Amino acid sequence: MDTVTLNEEILELKKKRKAVILAHSYERPEVQDIADFVGDSLGLSREAAKTDADIIVFAGVHFMAETAAILNPKKTVLIPDLDAGCSLADTIAASDVAKWREANPDGQIVAYVNTSAEVKALSDVCVTSANAVEVVKHLDPNRPIFFLPDMFLGAHVERVTGIKMHIWMGECHVHAGIGDQEIKDTMSKHPNAEFLIHPECSCGSSCLYLNPDAKMLSTEGMVNYAKASTRDEFVIATEVGIIHRLEKMAPGKKFLPIKESAVCQYMKMITLEKILASLREDKFVVRVEPEIANKARSAIETMIRFG
Ligand code: 13P
Ligand code: SF4
Repeated sequence: MDTVTLNEEILELKKKRKAVILAHSYERPEVQDIADFVGDSLGLSREAAKTDADIIVFAGVHFMAETAAILNPKKTVLIPDLDAGCSLADTIAASDVAKWREANPDGQIVAYVNTSAEVKALSDVCVTSANAVEVVKHLDPNRPIFFLPDMFLGAHVERVTGIKMHIWMGECHVHAGIGDQEIKDTMSKHPNAEFLIHPECSCGSSCLYLNPDAKMLSTEGMVNYAKASTRDEFVIATEVGIIHRLEKMAPGKKFLPIKESAVCQYMKMITLEKILASLREDKFVVRVEPEIANKARSAIETMIRFG
């Protein structure tokens, strides 16, 4: 089936079934283009919390769809490919979190949204890259804080807030692969470009050292920043799917990916064909055990209020 026919069938079925399509900014361009809402993890969670649709088709990865399911226990949440996981979320298990809690009964556990529902259920608050700094600033600095699972985001939060935390040594394979060499190479090739860096990148601290004007931003933060900036050339240090969204939202400006091969294969698993199959056959329903969902919900709801 060609793209035009696929789009028509998806739109028709979406209307008939009162469904909404939410897509992350790392999704394929054609998937972003058919979505009702495109954004970062925070924006997508907020959108999921307020939608009046009967069905949410999540064009993103599993933890995002799971978060939507926790916020909407009465709605059907679908993920078009169950294998769309996250290497970062896979670095930590609920048993790791329980162990820290046992050793730190008065501690505060801050879980990045890139975690399983079971991990969220044991956490006090969730964060995304868009609001992690703000949330941590509101914690009690006199009680131990466990920040999980991304070590580079954790280091960024410590650097900005000055608050020392126990940080889980997890990383995302895509962002960990954006390192010092990529920064040095692009800085010498594009001396006039502004650098926008996702805090999951392993190059964060050295980039700020080499280029103190670089901005550490979530994916939606990059979009908002580029739209408002008077500059017209940007080096983008994150997954390359964001380039399509940046070009759409800030037309006429130039966006250079720092690394063409920074591709999240999980995000790219979602295709128009799979979205159509998802709407036709309810593939695949994301379910979270009510006991886990009830425990995780307040940490997610707190996250939504910040930033
Ligand atoms: P954002 O919250 O900035 O969209 O990041 C999500 C993500 O998975 C980054 O790899
Ligand atoms: Fe997970 Fe990394 Fe993919 Fe984001 S880019 S979904 S953190 S594997």
